[in-house]
Amino acid sequence: MSLRFATSNRHKFGEAKSILNGYGIKIEHLNLAIDELRNESCARVAEASVKIAHSRARKPLFVEDSGLFVRALNGFPGTYSAWAFGKIGNEGLLRLMRGVRDRRASFVSAVAYADENGVNIFEGSCEGKISARMAGKNGFGYDPIFVPDDSHNSSQKTFAQDGALKARTSHRRRSLEKFANWHVDYQKQKKKR
Ligand code: IMP
Repeated sequence: MSLRFATSNRHKFGEAKSILNGYGIKIEHLNLAIDELRNESCARVAEASVKIAHSRARKPLFVEDSGLFVRALNGFPGTYSAWAFGKIGNEGLLRLMRGVRDRRASFVSAVAYADENGVNIFEGSCEGKISARMAGKNGFGYDPIFVPDDSHNSSQKTFAQDGALKARTSHRRRSLEKFANWHVDYQKQKKKR
C-alpha cells in the first residue's frame, strides 16, 4: 500500500514516512504548492488544502497542517507558525516570552486525507512548555524551544535535543497514528466490497 503525502516540508515528510512505516504504509512525496486558507484551526486549513490538492492530482492523498499555540500569547503563532518562524524565528519568540511565567504551549497537527469518497480529518496535539533558551540541533522549526510534557522527560529536553522523545510524543505522531489506524481499517473494508 502506497499513499501520497502532499507537502513542501521535507522534515514533515521524513517524520511521516517513519511513523507510517510502522503500520506498513509506504508514502510517496507529492510536491504541490498550495496557497493556504487563513483560519485559526489546523483542521480547517488542512481540509481546504486537501480539497485543492485532490482536485488537482485526482488521486488519493493526504496533507498535514500544524502549528505551535502559545497560551500566554493567545495562541500565537498558531496556524501562522511557518510565516512567524520566517519573520522572527526562535529568537523572536523567546524575546516575546521574556519575563513571561506561564510558558505553556501546544503543538497541534491535523492530517486530512481525500479520495473519491470525500475528506477525513485526524487531529493530534502535544502539550509542553517554551524553554528559556534554545537547545538542540535535531528536527526543524520550533523544536529547539519546545519541551514536551512527558513523564520520561525529567531532564526537560527540547524536541531538538531528543529525537526519540519527539518521535514518541509529537502532535504529528498522534494525528498520523489516528490516520494510520483508520486507513488500515478503511482498506480492509474496501477490499470486502
Ligand atoms: P504548515 O503546517 O506548513 O503551515 O507549517 C507549520 C509550521 O509550524 C512549521 O513550518 C513550523 O514552523 C511549525 N511546526 C509544525 N510542526 C512542528 C514541529 O514538529 N516542530 C517544530 N516546528 C513545527
